[in-house]
Amino acid sequence: MEHYEETHTTWNSIAQCYEDMFMDLEIYNDSYNRFCELLPNDKAPILEIGCGPGNITKYLLQKHPNYQILATDVAPNMISLAQKNVPNARFQQLDGRHLHTISETFHGIMCGFTIPYLSPQDTDQLIKNAHILLQPRGVLYLSFVSGNDTESGFISGSTGERTYFYYHDTTTIKKTLTTQGFQSIEHFEIPYKRSEDVTEMHTILLAQK
Ligand SMILES: C[S@@+](CC[C@H](N)C(=O)[O-])C[C@H]1O[C@@H](n2cnc3c(N)ncnc32)[C@H](O)[C@@H]1O
Repeated sequence: MEHYEETHTTWNSIAQCYEDMFMDLEIYNDSYNRFCELLPNDKAPILEIGCGPGNITKYLLQKHPNYQILATDVAPNMISLAQKNVPNARFQQLDGRHLHTISETFHGIMCGFTIPYLSPQDTDQLIKNAHILLQPRGVLYLSFVSGNDTESGFISGSTGERTYFYYHDTTTIKKTLTTQGFQSIEHFEIPYKRSEDVTEMHTILLAQK
């Protein structure tokens, strides 16, 4: 689909800008800590989907240096930054729509703000594939902005480049998780101050196989 191509090109182009703004954002740390608490041990194999400049992987490895993390992103420039920022993880350029090409299994899958760039159909498929890639009791972390699909569409940043942004309905995502075989689901809502006047809620779901 054409809008995917444009979205991926934009992410590649704004990689450094994203690192400058979000590398050290701390507002999600409690949810990352909860993800870690649900993992069975300190050497857990973890897959990250849409790792950006490696901000989450860096945080996880600072807390648990022996986690075995394979971090992936569709944008080559994000992978280059992440390799530089987190030398002790493995990185691979990968589209989150192609998880079926991975032949390893994991105790945890981290997917921070990547499904806002996937259609509802591709998000369903990602959840299905994540369930296959997780070992028993494995944990999936998903974050997104809850909303109606009718609000989804192109948004432009300060450079004028566009990404296609998908809102996802939380009830629908929870239903998909349950249908795919995830059992307990924990739900966090984090307020994010987008500007002086605008605060939006960010939704985080932690689902255990
Ligand atoms: C908002 S950033 C999130 C980065 C990081 N996970 C975080 O939470 O700060 C979204 C990331 O998803 C990546 N991305 C977008 N579409 C993707 C896809 N189809 N497959 C894999 N990564 C994708 C982008 O390149 C970007 O690095």
